[in-house]
Amino acid sequence: MGMLLLSISLIIFIFLAYKLYQRLRFKLPPGPRPLPFVGNLYSIKPVKFRCFAEWAQVYGPIMSVWFGSTLNVVISNSELAKEVLKENDQQLADRHRNRSSNSFSRGGKDLIWADYGPHYVKVRKLCNLELFTPKRLEALRPIREDEVTAMVDSIYKDCSNPDHYGKSLLVKNYIGAVAFNNITRLVFGKRFMNSGGVMDEQGQEFRGIVANGVKIGGLRFVGEDIPWLRWMFPQEEEILVKHEARRERLTRAIMEEHALARKTAGAKQHFVDALLTLQQEYDLSDDTVIGLLWDMITAGMDTTSISVEWAMAELIKNPRVQQKAQEELDRVIGCERIMAETDFSNLPYLQCVAKEALRLHPPTPLMLPHKANSNVKVGGYDIPKGSIVHVNVWAIARDPATWKDPHEFRPERFLEDDVDMKGHDYRLLPFGAGRRICPGAQIAINLITSMLGHLLHHFSWAPPEGVKPEEIDMSENPGLVTFMKNPVQAVAKPRLPSHLYKRVAVGAV
Ligand code: HEM
Repeated sequence: MGMLLLSISLIIFIFLAYKLYQRLRFKLPPGPRPLPFVGNLYSIKPVKFRCFAEWAQVYGPIMSVWFGSTLNVVISNSELAKEVLKENDQQLADRHRNRSSNSFSRGGKDLIWADYGPHYVKVRKLCNLELFTPKRLEALRPIREDEVTAMVDSIYKDCSNPDHYGKSLLVKNYIGAVAFNNITRLVFGKRFMNSGGVMDEQGQEFRGIVANGVKIGGLRFVGEDIPWLRWMFPQEEEILVKHEARRERLTRAIMEEHALARKTAGAKQHFVDALLTLQQEYDLSDDTVIGLLWDMITAGMDTTSISVEWAMAELIKNPRVQQKAQEELDRVIGCERIMAETDFSNLPYLQCVAKEALRLHPPTPLMLPHKANSNVKVGGYDIPKGSIVHVNVWAIARDPATWKDPHEFRPERFLEDDVDMKGHDYRLLPFGAGRRICPGAQIAINLITSMLGHLLHHFSWAPPEGVKPEEIDMSENPGLVTFMKNPVQAVAKPRLPSHLYKRVAVGAV
């Protein structure tokens, strides 16, 4: 008993001495007062980016928040975002991996969760030169157009079904199917769903793995922020190992199918074939190939459908904007043909609608966590090596110091001031900026704009009967990506001749 007390006192003493040492040695950013061991963990509200934005009003645009004994620095204005993502880009380009991301990425052998270093540089180069090129973006266009027209077809069938007539639809179901099929075809070259919407066996396993991954991502592991408690919870490790094995089994089966098919047919445009072709040239381990394939799924599926769902909620809430976008579509496309991606350049207002939705509702409001690989100074404060840095791009895009009427959904603002959203203007950073900027930004923008264009050209959208536009709930769910807390329901009314609602299917690309 005496020994135990002595050990506990010693641990507390070392902890307090270390904190004091850090306080004296570094000028840390201000922030809410941390408690011993748990830091600020128990005062952080579930929707973190809103909580951090409120705290930033009190403590300022650079703030210390303690997750257990780990220092997290939160940045909330565009000048400091530039210091993090431009001036100190390389020193702040490591990634913080929690237990689940560390397990899924096999300790950072992929791209998203890799620390900055030779492995990262090699894999990022491969992505930039081989996977995310304008040529491949164009080659994959038929897949996007196929999926978007399949969405229109299925909404049309449902809203003109006499049983459903005038009833509201759950918009997310249709958008989610596009994002799902687009990403599985882009990554694995597979549409797991047949034209009737029925999923094959492999697709069900894939969906089960994705759902399990989301569930694990939302778990609060006891040993997460207080690592020395981990040994008491071995079942936590087991959950991760099981999930990992299941994911690997499915991915290897798909990779083998592709390896066989490549011997008979030429290489195709999807990522799995590209990676298998380049595996030797770039000296990639199987862990890296599997990790990269899943990175694209994790990063590219929910983010895209979330953006469109928020945009639709805003368009239903703001009938003026909806009508203006439809007038543009009617003027440019007319009612004898459907929109194509090649029409985008003639649809500036539609592009502004997509941008305004990404401003007000960035799907990853705190981006992904960066980590300092050396001691850095930002805004006159120290960020010690090993600290985690979050850029609150949600708060920055609503900062009244840089945005007029920041809470208003007004796409015209971008006709007046053409703010870039791909990392050149630090007021608007839905995809981040600097060396870790999202490589999928253009794929995402094309798919989002295409979905919105078709949804608006083919249908007019209204809230469910009895609900006023201003009553639509715009609150968020907690999580790394922000789904709507109450998914948007809406009544769709066709506005084009019926022969324009057919899916334009394409086979293998
Ligand atoms: C609206 C849709 C999307 C948004 C808002 C988004 C946003 C982001 C953000 C904020 C980051 C982190 C940047 C940083 O750490 O500084 C990121 C990273 C990444 N995104 Fe996206 N993304 C989207 C769609 C996609 C798509 C469609 C793909 C792939 C098909 C993709 C692949 C990736 C990858 C691989 C990374 C990791 C990059 C790295 O760590 O170097 N994303 N994304």
